Amino acid sequence: MSQKEQWSSRLGFILAAAGSAIGLGAIWKFPYTAGQNGGGAFFLIFILFTLILGLPLLLAEFSIGRTAQNNAVDSYKTIAPKSKWYRVGILGMITSFILLSFYSVVGGWIIVYLYKAVTGQMYGLSSDEYMGVFGSTIANPFISVGVQLLFLLMTILVVSRGVEKGIEKASKIMMPALFILFTILVIRAITLDGAMEGITFLLQPDFSKVTSQTILEAMGQSFFTLSVGVSVMVTYSSYLPKTQSLPRSAISIVSLNILIVLLAGLAIFPAVFSFGLEPGAGPVLLFNVLPTVFSQLPFGMLFFIAFLVLFLFAALTSAFSMLEIIVSVISKGDLEKRKKWAWIIGLAIFVVGIPSALSYGVLADITLFEKTIFDLADYTVSNILLPLGSLLIALFVPLKMKKTALYEELQLGGGLKKGLFETWYFLIRFGAPILILAVMLDALGII
Ligand code: PHE
Repeated sequence: MSQKEQWSSRLGFILAAAGSAIGLGAIWKFPYTAGQNGGGAFFLIFILFTLILGLPLLLAEFSIGRTAQNNAVDSYKTIAPKSKWYRVGILGMITSFILLSFYSVVGGWIIVYLYKAVTGQMYGLSSDEYMGVFGSTIANPFISVGVQLLFLLMTILVVSRGVEKGIEKASKIMMPALFILFTILVIRAITLDGAMEGITFLLQPDFSKVTSQTILEAMGQSFFTLSVGVSVMVTYSSYLPKTQSLPRSAISIVSLNILIVLLAGLAIFPAVFSFGLEPGAGPVLLFNVLPTVFSQLPFGMLFFIAFLVLFLFAALTSAFSMLEIIVSVISKGDLEKRKKWAWIIGLAIFVVGIPSALSYGVLADITLFEKTIFDLADYTVSNILLPLGSLLIALFVPLKMKKTALYEELQLGGGLKKGLFETWYFLIRFGAPILILAVMLDALGII
């Protein structure tokens, strides 16, 4: 999309921004991170962070993007000329690059499952057998790298052509469909034998399990699911006409996100406990649980295939935003350049991501800080780069933007009471920097 192009409607913008937000973060990452961090308490802290940090930060990125009407780097230059703040955008580009390098690995896993489900290989097995099939497939270097490439090719094709209009249209059907399917899945999961244990695990906080790492991961999870700290939302909101309300859009996106996180948790944990699986299984958790839950549904295979298609779509709309922010900075609205750079950057991400794709196979034993390459990339992005980017954005807004201008920007299209504005401003100016720093330093053992 060129810089002068705009979203066809507020709904279009919301769908694209929600498309960026809703993805693997809520559906894949949340269940496994909550599973590793004791469940309920993690969920509660995640919700708290989403409301007091995620939502205000999302609104901060929106204000920057729409005030400057520019890409992730030039927006900072427009607002604070002759300063070094544009580096926040560069940090966002780097974060996006690493993020997509392992995100595409998981995107590839969805493609593997889709292929297996469509060709009838995912039918009538026991949950151990499903896990075996999945484990051996992703351990195969050719398959895991091949499907990662396939996922990236789909992303490159869309971003290089700038066909967001088509995506906008598709989202109008795909997103609601995803919600409906998830609801069916939740109903099945919570009526399984022994489901209560899973519901309790997710909804009953046990604070004895909370460590400084849990708090850091809950904060990282909240930034990850909302796509904040990367300036993706700066880029997206720059395409939004001045007639639309930013606070309303931010609230819709946050609500949708919390809802999908809740649905994902309620679909996964009852099943995990009912089938006697391990909630702390890590990144493979969702993939181990899903086929068994679906096989418990009438027409389970059909539902499973439909779910995978929607899940793949949700992952792709997030992936588009990651590549989009990099390409829009480099191509500056020039369509020819956009095509070229979408391919160059996309393929570079593929190369950098290969070791992550091999982390469940030939490179499984290569670890640093007790983490595989895949886990390390995920950890670095979620728990270091996203909080750092968010911290800088929270500093930038009160330092470089006038409070009255911000109030006017957020007032456009209606919807923001003075008191709420003051609360938001306070959270950005003091709440976010202090909290983010405290959580990061605490996890490092410095305070
Ligand atoms: N929010 C996306 C998800 O949950 C991930 C993402 C993070 C996308 C940061 C863009 C920027 O899947």
